[in-house]
Amino acid sequence: MKIAVVGTGYVGLVTGACLAKVGHTITCVDIDKNKIARLKKGIIPIYEPGLDKVVKEVIKKNKLSFDISLKNVLSEVQAVFIAVGTPARKDGKADLKYVFDVAKEVGETLAAEASRRRRQDYKVIINKSTVPVGTAKEVTNIIAKYYKGEFAVVSNPEFLKEGYAVDDFMKPDRIVVGTSSKKAKKIMQEIYKPVKGKKVFTEVQSSEMIKYASNAFLTTKISFINEIANLCELVGADVKEVSFGMGLDKRIGKSFLNAGIGYGGSCFPKDTTALNQIAGTKGYDFKLLKAVIEVNSKQRKYVIDKLEQVFGNLKNKRIAVLGLAFKNNTDDVRESASIDIIRMLTGVGARVKAYDPKANDNAKEILNSGVKITNDPYEAIKNSDALVIATEWPEFANLDFDKIKTLLKKPIIIDGRNLLNSVIIKKLGFQYYGIGRA
Ligand code: UDX
Repeated sequence: MKIAVVGTGYVGLVTGACLAKVGHTITCVDIDKNKIARLKKGIIPIYEPGLDKVVKEVIKKNKLSFDISLKNVLSEVQAVFIAVGTPARKDGKADLKYVFDVAKEVGETLAAEASRRRRQDYKVIINKSTVPVGTAKEVTNIIAKYYKGEFAVVSNPEFLKEGYAVDDFMKPDRIVVGTSSKKAKKIMQEIYKPVKGKKVFTEVQSSEMIKYASNAFLTTKISFINEIANLCELVGADVKEVSFGMGLDKRIGKSFLNAGIGYGGSCFPKDTTALNQIAGTKGYDFKLLKAVIEVNSKQRKYVIDKLEQVFGNLKNKRIAVLGLAFKNNTDDVRESASIDIIRMLTGVGARVKAYDPKANDNAKEILNSGVKITNDPYEAIKNSDALVIATEWPEFANLDFDKIKTLLKKPIIIDGRNLLNSVIIKKLGFQYYGIGRA
């Protein structure tokens, strides 16, 4: 099927490339001319394992092309995925400007096409961006304002984890499609036919809600285990043992029970805040979600509190921070706990040197120039008073800790991701503080 995907961020590019890989003919559209020029050459603007291989392969097979305007391709395609950003506004609401811009362009272009030709093919507009419940209706209204022909707006939320997005697309736990149109359902079935995984068809509003509810549930799990971790420290338990013991219960499951300095990224913080807003606009007080958000922001302060317990005042203390990305396997620093912690540290007068295997460049763009970013982990650690591990990159666990002990002024490690084997690290003579590990 010929399909257009609007937006070449993480979601749009992965969706476009993977749909091309399973046999569809895709045009990815973005208004950023530079980005499109680079993508045409197979240059991917993000670090996403496996994506560049897929993109290069499908470009070569003429299954994936790029364009700077939806107008150029709309008449050719049967379906249009909207995968543009919905950043959080200051008041926490999702900013739908970009989604509505695409809707307007679709409406105007279809109307112009229809006046040129007698007949216009049926189109399905698929919303992949995370949007409040009711947005599909609004998108329908915007298109219908301009275009009087037949079309359907479908909700099809994404559940892609950064760092694993290609795999998540190809082998999803489920594909959720919200539509009440039989015609649109048939087209969606055809689009996803080559992708294995349970297909769930719902009403549009339910589909829009599934995305928020899923992310809110996962963040609830994380904030819950972080609260348990804090309690573990007070009662002398180890949260790693506790979460392992809990996770073996199939009803609970072991995933998303890693205690740490809290969740970040482009989705979780934004989506939980937006869901809380949605509840608020309906006059519903979502107490549990508010607590989840509060626990998450409190958790980031843990590192500062621990360091202050050890050093008293942090003014002019040199702190090495390993990890800048919001999690491992990505170069993304959006809403990263590490960045917040670095800002808090410099805010109380500490001097920070930091290192990340993939996110150094992105971090440099948003961090104050006073923060020194190094190309080598040992360089960041050298002459520091303490080491903080802020991102769960597995390679940090394999560093040479004998060497690190000689490089640090004091052998102090705050392990914000419980990445290290505390027994071994303590045996090497470090003062080790994990999260919830009495
Ligand atoms: C998330 C969702 O998982 C995905 O389905 C959705 O569509 C987009 O948002 P992503 O943002 O890529 O994906 O990251 P994810 O792997 O879910 O981790 C999010 C954050 O939670 C990270 O900061 C991570 O460090 C943190 N986390 C995760 C924990 O603190 N503990 C855990 O046990 C798991």
